Amino acid sequence: MGWSPFRSIRGSPGGSLTFPFLRASFCRKGRGEKRRSEIQSHRVARDDNPQRYRRPTPAAPPPTVERSLPGPHCERVTCPPPGFAVLLAHMHDAVMAALSTVNDPELHRDLVSLGMIERAEVTGGVAGIKVKLTTPACPLKGQIEREVREAVLTVPGVTQVNVTFGATVRVAAQPALPGVKHVLLVGSGKGGVGKSSVAVNLAASLAADGARVGLLDADVYGPSVAHMLGQGAARVTANAERKMQPLEAHGLRFISMANLSPAGQALVWRGPMLHSAVQQFIKDAAWGELDYLIVDLPPGTGDVQLSLTQTVNVTGAVIVTTPQDVALIDAARAIDMFRKASVPVLGVVENMSYFVAPDTGKVYDLFGRGGSRKLGEQYPLLGEVPIDLDVRQDADAGVPAVLAHPDTPASQALIRVARNLAGQVSVLAVNKELAQSLSDLPDQLTVV
Ligand SMILES: Nc1ncnc2c1ncn2[C@@H]1O[C@H](COP(=O)(O)OP(=O)(O)O)[C@@H](O)[C@H]1O
Ligand SMILES: [Mg+2]
Repeated sequence: MGWSPFRSIRGSPGGSLTFPFLRASFCRKGRGEKRRSEIQSHRVARDDNPQRYRRPTPAAPPPTVERSLPGPHCERVTCPPPGFAVLLAHMHDAVMAALSTVNDPELHRDLVSLGMIERAEVTGGVAGIKVKLTTPACPLKGQIEREVREAVLTVPGVTQVNVTFGATVRVAAQPALPGVKHVLLVGSGKGGVGKSSVAVNLAASLAADGARVGLLDADVYGPSVAHMLGQGAARVTANAERKMQPLEAHGLRFISMANLSPAGQALVWRGPMLHSAVQQFIKDAAWGELDYLIVDLPPGTGDVQLSLTQTVNVTGAVIVTTPQDVALIDAARAIDMFRKASVPVLGVVENMSYFVAPDTGKVYDLFGRGGSRKLGEQYPLLGEVPIDLDVRQDADAGVPAVLAHPDTPASQALIRVARNLAGQVSVLAVNKELAQSLSDLPDQLTVV
């Protein structure tokens, strides 16, 4: 219910405005004996005929007018005087018109037509705007806030703008799994390039931004996610529906082979066994409602990757590589595999990109920084993560670096990678939505 200047009057008993007036006109002093006897005879008649002279029932409260102001995303405002409503409607229209000049920086369409304005109201010159982001990990939130404020301040009568945010992760068509909006694969051509470290920190950063995140360690031969989350000794159990119950740590849900098999034992599985294990991890686990399910893949282009792309509707993949040529050659192979499996590559992360000497601050490009740009212009570089002692030590201590040391250059780079990835997922989802709505149009438009 919106603001109403008449709320206090509507709140009082409706009859109180009518009865004092009636009583006063009947009982006013100094109207003479005639009037008094009239009143007396009225009373007698009323007592003789209570049915006819019944006290009038209190009048109903004055009706209020429910007005839904124009604009697809506005609140309902209750206001009795039509003049006010017109004024408010004009103000609201002007604010929405101003907002329609602000583009989402990644989606390149305006906030109004993208349905991102959840609330727009003006009270006494103060505009309250609530923007519904397409992901809580929006990388350009600050820019959107600034541009919304600047645009709304151009509306005459607006002196202050309060911008607040909500978020609903967009999903183009069908969610990847029931309840799971996006499945994102983290792959690399090689082992040891920091894929698990990136996957764990991505997941923790997205969860810290407010997204609902799951992390599946699909590196069945070399699982390290459980250890990096400090849960190596925990065991996965079955719930009442006999589904695997994911474990929880640092605000995210996860399953790792390390939590299923006895510690220190090697798995000797052939392809079909791997395939059914992957299917169980995905389909027979009670993941619940998730915005993102991040999958840490084994290195290379093998059975697990193939099984995953066949089992579930994957949103996209992230390639982790180090900058040197030997790693890049394998990363290019991984990209080719995803292309053949029709999995979009959402971007590349260059890990161990450079090293900053802690004593001198001098930057060393140990492996040749920027090498991942050679992978091609068509894949966005989601970020360059430096070699950092905390990243390694925090992983061994079981707390993701983005949570344990969020202010270091490496953690800041990992947080940027997570937000850029979330941005890429939104772009993909909204573009697919758009393509879908265009394909729903009739083939031939008749001009009348
Ligand atoms: N940016 C980094 N700075 C320092 N150490 C890192 C960094 N990225 C990864 N590591 C360390 O490198 C080792 C291998 O990383 P890991 O994530 O297990 O690689 P992968 O999953 O690709 O095999 C781990 O000990 C990890 O802590
Ligand atoms: Mg790994």
